[in-house]
Amino acid sequence: MNAPRILSGIKPTGRPHLGNYFGMMQPAIAWQDRGQAFYFIADYHALTTVQDAAALRQHTRDAALDFLACGLDPSKAVLFRQSDVPEVTELAWLLTCLTPMPMLENCHAYKDHLARGKVPSHGLFAYPVLMAADILLYDSNVVPVGKDQKQHVEVTRDLAEKANRIFGPIFTVPQPSIVPEMATVIGLDGQKMSKSYGNTIGLFEEEKALKKKVMGIVTDSAPVEAPKNPEVSSIVALYRLVAGEADVGVMESEFRAGGVGYGEFKKRLFGAIWETFAPFRSTRAELAADPSTVEAVLADGAGRARAVADQTMARVRQAMGLR
Ligand code: TYM
Repeated sequence: MNAPRILSGIKPTGRPHLGNYFGMMQPAIAWQDRGQAFYFIADYHALTTVQDAAALRQHTRDAALDFLACGLDPSKAVLFRQSDVPEVTELAWLLTCLTPMPMLENCHAYKDHLARGKVPSHGLFAYPVLMAADILLYDSNVVPVGKDQKQHVEVTRDLAEKANRIFGPIFTVPQPSIVPEMATVIGLDGQKMSKSYGNTIGLFEEEKALKKKVMGIVTDSAPVEAPKNPEVSSIVALYRLVAGEADVGVMESEFRAGGVGYGEFKKRLFGAIWETFAPFRSTRAELAADPSTVEAVLADGAGRARAVADQTMARVRQAMGLR
């Protein structure tokens, strides 16, 4: 089999957090050695929430910097800005014409929005179609994502199969790739970590801010001496992501035995998060010192992404009877 084409994206709606890192960035970086990887900063998608030009540009640069600092190697993977290949919006329209409304009405991001009493924009409603266009434009085989994006990859598969039935084999049908232990990273309040819930831990928080957040993790009120259940603790869940097996084992048995308070466990968690990201922190500082490096990576990525996109669009327009 040929090397797989791997694709994923991150929305620049704020600084990336531990959920983004463990759910997508770390697995995506691991994939860069196993095939042709295309990763992008989804600025068109971010417009459903960020409607401030300066903020969007800043978040887009920051997300690219964070990805590079964490180990994305631009000599292996293509890193680009979604809006640098505007053909994706053309493909989104073509796919929209094949998309049944009920399929989108059933998508959980849209349903959550309604449940919270908000009025969804058409962009939010059609979000999964643009995401399908991202994936299909680059003939992707594998899409590394967190569990919250699984439904969107399923929509993509359905649309690709439908288009292939109607117009012939124009699209590659992708597979999601979800790492089970990292599928849903828990936030400070025990819910899924998410920018929209305000419960995130950023990858590159200042030391004091990071400590404050970790010390603020919500726990029950069990006293120091009481045995505690590690299986329901957000502290342990997060510690598993950043500490070695032996240290996790020690924390779990101390939970069960009692005699250690949540404050002590939180300090240990803080230390492990700080250590995990320390090497990336110094790389990030070096990269940030010269903004032209990131711009050059994105410009080069845009060219390489467009070369693939042009071929797909020529094939799709031809098959659909356009031009
Ligand atoms: P975004 O920016 O919300 O999230 C980026 C990636 O991080 C994962 N993630 C999590 N994983 C585990 N636990 C969490 N708490 C957590 N929070 C976020 C997400 O699952 C995601 O993989 N729609 C995408 C961006 C996108 C995209 C695409 C992705 C646009 N087009 C095409 C793949 C393919 C999104 O909202 O990402």
